[in-house]
Amino acid sequence: MNTLTNKRVLLGVSGSIAAYKSPDIVRRLQDLGAEVRVIVTDGGKEFVSERSLQTISKNKVHSNLWDKEAELAMGHIELAKWSDIVIIAPASANTIAKLCHGRADDLLSTVILATDAKVMLAPSMNQQMYASKAMKDNLKILLKRGIVIIEPGFGEQACGDVGEGRLAEALDIANQAADLFTSTSLSGKKVLITLGGTIEAIDPVRYISNHSSGKMGMALAHQCIQAGAKTTLIIGSISIDIEKRAEVIHIVSADEMYEAVMKRIESQDLFICCAAVADFRPKNVSHNKIKKNNSPVTIELTENKDILASVCQLSKRPICIGFAAESENFIVNARAKLESKACEAIILNDISQSEIGLNSDKNEVHFITKEHCEKIEKNSKQIIAEKIIEKITNYYF
Ligand code: C5P
Repeated sequence: MNTLTNKRVLLGVSGSIAAYKSPDIVRRLQDLGAEVRVIVTDGGKEFVSERSLQTISKNKVHSNLWDKEAELAMGHIELAKWSDIVIIAPASANTIAKLCHGRADDLLSTVILATDAKVMLAPSMNQQMYASKAMKDNLKILLKRGIVIIEPGFGEQACGDVGEGRLAEALDIANQAADLFTSTSLSGKKVLITLGGTIEAIDPVRYISNHSSGKMGMALAHQCIQAGAKTTLIIGSISIDIEKRAEVIHIVSADEMYEAVMKRIESQDLFICCAAVADFRPKNVSHNKIKKNNSPVTIELTENKDILASVCQLSKRPICIGFAAESENFIVNARAKLESKACEAIILNDISQSEIGLNSDKNEVHFITKEHCEKIEKNSKQIIAEKIIEKITNYYF
């Protein structure tokens, strides 16, 4: 089954009695993984409240082309660019006629002109109006332009007539929208990624951490999202922008990362442990800032839980992929890690070279499983991530 995971759907609600069903369409689209924004026309507002659409879509509803405030927040061009697909459901006779003529006299018609996203219409009107020559000609023109039309159903109408013109079912609309997107290698899968460094407090001011930037983990997140996965990130200390389409949980210490992972791990299909987790933390965190005095300070360390190894011990667990940052005996050490953690694969980083690995934009890795040891040649972290996800999907999905 195709889904709408990571897809941005703009739902246009125009003036038909069936507009009262539009909150349900929002729900069905969300069920398939879409993020939904809604434009409602003046006619649409006569049949459904903006508040319902706003509450269900969890986004501000857009309606006025001339609203200065709205244009500042997300104007018609931004909405047009934001969308992967625009669905007009219900599409009234008037809205369909306007689209035919390329008019731009309200927000919805203007967005349709300004978008290069897929456009889909679900007509809904009185059976006589739907059967009219003008409507048939208009739909033919729109079909020729590549707009997808979802045929209305036959049956009793709100006005009492019986015939063709009832809005298609909400679930059919959502499924037909999903079918317009080809399924990708991780479609419908759930991926959890840890990334960044953890911070282990010494006192209220000082801490132990590392140089991890989170670049590799974020590149992997991007690739998982591109491949259609619902992606959750558990993020420590990073120095890069966060992928907006992922669900994000921020943590500070290794202990917090462990808790955040364990809370979510059961429902995941793939776990990529890219974080630079501190192996040790100060045994006691001083409540007060430690004072300088003449005697040397000794900080006693205690071991953190190994998150990857703990997940691999669970009876119900996802495919687990770890990273190994090594500076010597690379392959031997990585193989030992594969065994001790009991994960499916280890991605080996050579951190002895400064232009690859920790905090740099490039990387060169080995993808190591029990059976394979494959080098992924030096490249940008984006390309390395693409190749890693390709291997993971080929081997495990
Ligand atoms: O044992 P080492 O730290 O070298 O293993 C690296 C791998 O294990 C990485 O994938 C890292 O994210 C993970 N790890 C972990 N919990 C720890 C330490 C490392 O999940 N406490």
